[in-house]
Order: sequence, then C-alpha cells, then structure tokens
Amino acid sequence: MKAQEIRKQFIDFFKDRGHREHPSSSLIPHNDPTLLFANAGMNQFKEFFTGSETPETKRAVTIQKCVRAGGKHNDLENVGKTARHHTFFEMLGNFSFGDYFKEDAIAYAWDFLTKELKIDKEKLYVTVHETDEEARQIWHTKQGVPLDRIFYRGDKDNFWEMGDIGPCGPCSEIFFDHGPEHSDGADTSDCILDDEGRYVEVWNLVFMQYEKFKENGEIKRRELPAPSVDTGAGLERLIACLQGKYWNYDTDVFAPIIKKIEAISGKKYDDEKYTTAMRVLCDHIRSSVFLITDGVIPSNEGRGYVLRRIIRRAIRFLDQLEVTNNCFHEFIPEVFETLGEQYPQNKENIELADKLIRLEEEKFRKTLKVGLDLIQKEIKKTKGKIFSGQTAFKLYDTYGFPVDLTQIILDDTGLELDQEGFNQEMEKQKQLSKDSANFSADDELKNLFYQVKQEVGEVAFKGYDTSTLETKIEKIIEHNEYFYVVTKQTPFYPEGGGQVGDQGTINDLLVIDTQKPIEDFIVHILKDVSSLKEGQNVTLSINQQLREKTKRNHTATHLLQAALIKTLGNHVKQAGSKVTPDYLRFDFTHTEALKKDELVQIENIVNQKIEDALYAQAELMTKDEADQKGAMALFGEKYGDEVRVLTIDDFSVELCGGTHVNNTSEIGTFLIRSEASLASGVRRIEALTSLGAIDYLKLRSQTLEKVEKAFNAKNDTLLLKTTELQANLKEQHKTILALQDKIQSYQSEDLFSNITKLSNGVELCIVDYKDGSPKDFRNLSDKFVDKNPEAVLLLFAKDNDKVSILLRTNKKNSNIKCNNIFKEAIALCNGRGGGRPDMAQGSGEHTSFEEFKNFVIQKLEEI
Ligand code: SER
Repeated sequence: MKAQEIRKQFIDFFKDRGHREHPSSSLIPHNDPTLLFANAGMNQFKEFFTGSETPETKRAVTIQKCVRAGGKHNDLENVGKTARHHTFFEMLGNFSFGDYFKEDAIAYAWDFLTKELKIDKEKLYVTVHETDEEARQIWHTKQGVPLDRIFYRGDKDNFWEMGDIGPCGPCSEIFFDHGPEHSDGADTSDCILDDEGRYVEVWNLVFMQYEKFKENGEIKRRELPAPSVDTGAGLERLIACLQGKYWNYDTDVFAPIIKKIEAISGKKYDDEKYTTAMRVLCDHIRSSVFLITDGVIPSNEGRGYVLRRIIRRAIRFLDQLEVTNNCFHEFIPEVFETLGEQYPQNKENIELADKLIRLEEEKFRKTLKVGLDLIQKEIKKTKGKIFSGQTAFKLYDTYGFPVDLTQIILDDTGLELDQEGFNQEMEKQKQLSKDSANFSADDELKNLFYQVKQEVGEVAFKGYDTSTLETKIEKIIEHNEYFYVVTKQTPFYPEGGGQVGDQGTINDLLVIDTQKPIEDFIVHILKDVSSLKEGQNVTLSINQQLREKTKRNHTATHLLQAALIKTLGNHVKQAGSKVTPDYLRFDFTHTEALKKDELVQIENIVNQKIEDALYAQAELMTKDEADQKGAMALFGEKYGDEVRVLTIDDFSVELCGGTHVNNTSEIGTFLIRSEASLASGVRRIEALTSLGAIDYLKLRSQTLEKVEKAFNAKNDTLLLKTTELQANLKEQHKTILALQDKIQSYQSEDLFSNITKLSNGVELCIVDYKDGSPKDFRNLSDKFVDKNPEAVLLLFAKDNDKVSILLRTNKKNSNIKCNNIFKEAIALCNGRGGGRPDMAQGSGEHTSFEEFKNFVIQKLEEI
C-alpha cells in the first residue's frame, strides 16, 4: 500500500465518523512564540483544547507536516542512527475537542489498524499511564486485548506535553512488533517494549486533561474545560509496518530520493559504507525543503539557525559519499514526487527552495575550506595531548564538522578530544536556541488576556467601514505601566499582517497603539486612563490622518510585491513587511542586489498602476475560492475558513486583513528610498508614497539647489562642472604627491649626509627623524639604499615614551641580517618588531634607545 493511499484511507475513515478534515498548518507555528516548529498535529488546535477559542466542529482529522529539530522534541542527532527518527515527518491525527474521550479514541485507533489496515493483532501491544486503570480496562474488555499485552508506564513515556507550557495529558500508545531478529538486546525485565529495536510505537492516544501555564514566573497546571483527545500516528512508521520494512527509509516514501542520490554519487544504498549517509540526506532534504517552502530562511538565529544546521549537516554527509560539487538542491524534485500532491502550496515555492539551498551550499563549501585549514592549524597549535572542546564545538557550530568527524581526524594525530568541554558548549547553545524560541512574548500577560477573553468574549473589528463609534468599556487591565482597554467592538486596527496598530483617542485620552495579543481579541494601549472606568460608555476615534497614510502604504506594498515578481521572477516571496503611516518596508527572498535598471523598472510599474487608477477591492470568500482566484497567501499565516482577499484589478490578488485604499490613484506616487541585503537570500526595500515621497524629493531638491548655487550651474552644466572638478582634483593630487616626493629627496640629502665608518669598514648612518612621522620611514629608506648601496641606515623617531625604529640596508648586502639584529636589539627597549634581512622595523621604550643603538653598532662591527 502506497503512502498516498494510506493518507486517503485515514482521512476517509475519520470523516465517516463525523470528523472534519483540516489542512496541515504551516511548519512555522502561527501566533505561538512558545514553539519553534509545528511538532505535532495538535499544535494548530491548542486554543480549542484550552477553551480560549471555540471550534466549529468538535471532531477533527489532519495530516500534519512536523519538524522535530529543535526545542522540546528534537530528533536531529538521531537521524540515520535509528530506523525511525526523522527531522521532517507527517503525522496522522484525529482529535476530539470536549467530545468523545477514551473509549471512542481507543476503538477508532484499534479499528483503523486492525480492520482497515488489517494489521495482525498478534503484532500489536499497548501501554497506558500507570495511573490509568480505566484505559487499561477499556483496552481489555472493549477491544479484547489480553492483559499481558497491556503495560503500565510512568510519566517519562506516557505523559505527553507539547512544550514547557500548553495542553498535556496521560497517554496510551500502540506498539508494533517487528520480530525478534530486530532485537537490540535491551534489558526487558521491566517491560518487553523496552526493546526499542524490536518494538516500535506507531500511535499515540493522548487523553488531554490539563494545561500547563506560567504565573508569577512559575509553571502551574490546571484542568482543561473538557476532557479531549489528541492522537498522532507517524505516517512513515506505519507505512514501514505495512510494507514489511524495518527501516522507514526503505519504503516508497524515500525511494525516489535514494535513487537520485545513488545516481549523483555513483554509490549504492546497499553498500553499508554509504547507507547511513544516504538516509541522513533523504531526511535532511525533506526538512530543508519543507522549512524553506513554509517560509524559514537560513540564518544565524532561531528557526533559520536550525535550518542552516540541517543543511550543513547534510553537506557533511554528501562528503562521505565523496560528492563535493554543489548538488544538494538537485534532490528537491524527488522530495515532491511523494509529497507534492499532499502539499501543493509547498510545491509552489520550489524555485525559492532551489535558490536558497544552492546559495547556502555554495557559501558553506567555501566556509568549510576555511574550517579544514582551521582544524589543521588548531592541531598544530595544540600543546600537550588534549584538543580543546571549545574549538571542537566551534568547528561543529560554524563549519558543520560533526564531532565524530573531528574525532576521526584527531585519531590520526594521537590527540584526545576534551569531550566534556564540547558537551558544555553544546548545552549552552541548546539553551540559546531554547531562548530564541521564546521570543519576547510575555506569557503572563497573554494568560491574563485569555482569562479576560473568556469573560468578555470576542472583540469585533469595525474599522474597515468606520473610524469612530460609541461603546462600553468592558475591562481595563493594568500591566507594567500600560493600560489595556477592552471593548466589545472597535474601529482601531490592531497590528497585524505587517501593518502597525492604529492610534487615536478614547474620549479625549490618547491610544498609543492597538494590538491583537490572541485570536479575535483586540486591546487598546494607553498610558493614562485617569478619566475612564469599566462599564463607562465612551467614544472611540482613530487618528484618521495617520490611517489614510497607512492605507496608501499598505496598498502600495501589494503593488510592489507584484512588480517585484514580474521583474525578478516567481522565487520572490514575502519574508516580512512593515506598513506605517510614514513609510513601507518589504522584505523578500532574492539572492542578489537589485540592479539600478531593475529598481527603475519596479518603480515605473508601480507608478503606472497608480496612474491607471485601478480599483482595489477587498472581499470575504472561502479559502478554496481564494485559491481558485490565485490569491497569494503569506508564509506561516493561519487562515480561517473565510478569508479576506484584496484584488487590485488583474494585477494583484492577495489574502490580507489590512486596511487599503479604494483606488490606486489615492497612493499619488511611489518612490523606493533604499534597497539592501537583510540576510543571505533576503533583500529589503523601503519605499514612500504620496506626500511622504514628495517631502523626500523636496528635501533632496533643496540640497540640489544649494549645490547648484555653489557651482553656479544647473542640470547638464552642473554635471559637467563637477566632473571637471573631480578630474582637476585628481590631477592636482598627483602634482602634490610628486612635489612631496621631491621635498623628501632634498630632505633626505640633508638627513643622510652624516655617514660614519665603523671599525670594520661598515658604513652606518644614524638619523633622528625628529619632526617626521614613522609613516615616512619606508620611503626615506628607499631613497637611502638607492643612494648608498653599501651602507646601513638606522632611522628613528621619538614620540612621547615610544621610539619607532627602522634598520635598513641594500638587499645585495646579504651578510647583514637586519631582522636578526633588530629582534635582539629591540628586546633591550622592551619593544617588538621584525622584518626581512634587508629591512626590519618596530618600536620600543625611548629611554632605552641608547642601548639599542650600541647593540646594533656592536653587531655590525662583528660582521
Ligand atoms: N501529540 C501527540 C504526539 O505528538 C499525539 O498526537 O505524540
């Protein structure tokens, strides 16, 4: 049975049992700063479990793309070592939000495995939480599983939690027996399932009962409003069981990628030397491609950093296959051979994945060369027998050297790795990626908002059609010197989709910002609420002038995006944006700086669309209708069933909740202020519209006027004049240099007039270059050796406590070793320096210069 058939069978089975099918959410969790990547099917339903949002239907079924490569669930280092760990995998799941509980969840899972997929019951085992006698009895009495096939397990194995906070609960797992030939020889005296080589967990039924949350810095646990169910079955594992394979990698899911790796490397998957590397590559290309096509960009922090490490790790494994050209991106089409049908939105971004992976590999291979040199240098530098753990970590972190590779290189040198030091650095880094996953969200405040939302209900945004309305204050929350005023409806747009929050007034008090900290809940932020109280009727008015400016910038952002795609290509994806009253900022994926003519073209396209006075129309429609219209969705955004689509004639169709002009002519004009690199593969454009653009141009034209006045010229004449001036300056600079040279020659004649013959006939000229700078030493000494090819020059200049010294002779005087003499002599002045046999230079304490001089004379006399 093929993967696609199992996916369909699973969805159909649960749809037949009243479950509503939801699409997989993005790998970038929406609005959830506690989570690095989507790591389980339940993530997108977190709010349904906690009760802070109400689902339309109480039963759901999904196939969720997951990445476990960072945060609480991290399998990165296990990939390739075990038969069934992946960084990217698909999870089948059925969910009940306060509807059915243990009995039905167990019955559905058992029926699907044993009746639908027809897996032999004799191959299945079950675990329950050690306190869950109820589940054990259901398995036994309702499903007929013999008691000796049901095992109790503690929190470590059978209590599931999404992260440090969030919904959680005891679970019951189903295991598949791959047969005694796969035993890993583990001690099974407590439980036979401890033999993880032989028994594999295929389905986890979590009985969601609690929520962990933060209060006063402490993690606490409370009961969920209603007991719920969250189940998860790893698709790749299930397929392995059904296709009679032990390794997930041996199933049809990975076959096309493995074939391609074989073709590119000329190595065989069956050759034990290469099997692991091929498995790791198979896994890593899937996670890299899916992370990028969901909007993650390789970088040095947070999600982008995890992605970068995955790609780098893959490239090290390509090396093991002796493939050293840029080719990791060549496996991308094969990834979509088995996943493309299921995730068409990811497939749409294939060009972007290709560009970014290529770029990352190219850059990393360059870095790697430096890394290899570095490891050799470090080995040479190492005194004693221990190779520093910190250095090994740097090699791992920056150059992607797996520590076992460093170990192999060290084995040949007899050095021992400080593994403990390495582990410590690794721990520090883990903490770092954990911290970056936590962003700046104030969990406590969020928790407070959840509670208020439960009391007050949803807050409706009315600001598309109105700028002012009267309503009652439901709640005023005070936190860290700010006040959050909550009403049931508001014309204030809360920050979102890149657009800043509205400002305005509640009665006569200033609203400084508006935010949407949780779904369907808007708060007005004020510094002063002295004349407001809960229950009071008030007038909410937005600052209309600012809103108008923001609208122009927002619609212009859509025009800009479409113009960028038209000019640069389909790989252009939005990577972030900011729309304010004063300017707009748009970040997008593109691997090189934009050329002048591209920028001009983009500006022209946008201005033409403004000139054409196109209607911009926002409509609500179903997500399917929007897809049919070709509406562009944003990376990582979660969209409900009904979405808002902004259509600008036939030029741009995008999902967007922001506020917009009705006609592009309102934008007035569009001007790109700057274009720059934001990160590798990401560019940033800042632009201005309407009066903002005109003010900017005015300022520039005022400056130009001043310049025109100064030059007493305009337009072409001004250009001619400045060019001439530049050329003149260049000429004059040359003349000055020539004159300086001449002066130095005259000076040097004076300076070098005093040459003494030492007792052995060596000629020495000692010069105190009193007023000059050591910068001239080199030039002066050149002149000296030209004129006095037999003699030695000792040139010095004192500056405060320091003396700068140069010792020089003509190259042909090979019996004189300036560098050797200098090195010994400068030690007498507590200084440093060195050079070549014909010239040495350095500095030391001026009080000891006499010693230096005498030492040099003595050495020269010994020649
Ligand atoms: N959330 C549970 C897991 O990931 C069940 O889906 O295992």
